[in-house]
Amino acid sequence: MTNLAILISGRGSNMEAILKSIKKNKMPVKPVIVISNKPDAKGVKIAQKLGVKTEVIESMGVKGASWDYDRKIISVLEKNWVTPKNGLVCLAGFMRIMSPEFIRHFKGRIMNIHPAILPSFPGLHSQKQAIDYGVMYSGCTVHFADEGIDSGPIILQAVVKVKNDDTEETLSRRILAKEHKIYPEAVRLFALGKIKIVGRKAIIS
Ligand code: GAR
Repeated sequence: MTNLAILISGRGSNMEAILKSIKKNKMPVKPVIVISNKPDAKGVKIAQKLGVKTEVIESMGVKGASWDYDRKIISVLEKNWVTPKNGLVCLAGFMRIMSPEFIRHFKGRIMNIHPAILPSFPGLHSQKQAIDYGVMYSGCTVHFADEGIDSGPIILQAVVKVKNDDTEETLSRRILAKEHKIYPEAVRLFALGKIKIVGRKAIIS
């Protein structure tokens, strides 16, 4: 059984998709804790409604990657038995950069979702970046987190066609629908032991 922690900062729709899919598809995954760095994140209430324990670790005033802050996360994870042996940490719209120490602690056990076809358009406002660049296709990526920004081994990607009249909002909406499909699927593959990291690649068997 994989003990799952989901880290959020806001709406929590990817978190919700993962939690619902775990139940629906009877995955060997136990969602043990949802952590938010924002007390008013909408996702906190959604997690509680779905019967998952929540904890807020306020990050106001903590700028950039911070091992001091991330240590607080590790302490909550440990209390809830999410460990580097049995755990999976899903970053789901968690708008903080994790410290290298945190990444190393959970090496190969941290996933992130990004609303672009990486390595294009990392960072913030990826959907706007895609529209402004004039690409014909964008989409989303689930990847393992490494010490860079949106740069770890890619697990799954889904593509969305960009329309001529797309706005950041309309494109984001269509990409989000795909995010809700590939993130739960990546969690399922991980829990079934079907993903192996070889160098830069996440190989799915
Ligand atoms: C999602 O679109 C996710 O891909 C994005 O934030 C949104 C969170 O929505 N993440 C990033 O941009 C990370 N670089 P959600 O809270 O409804 O899941």
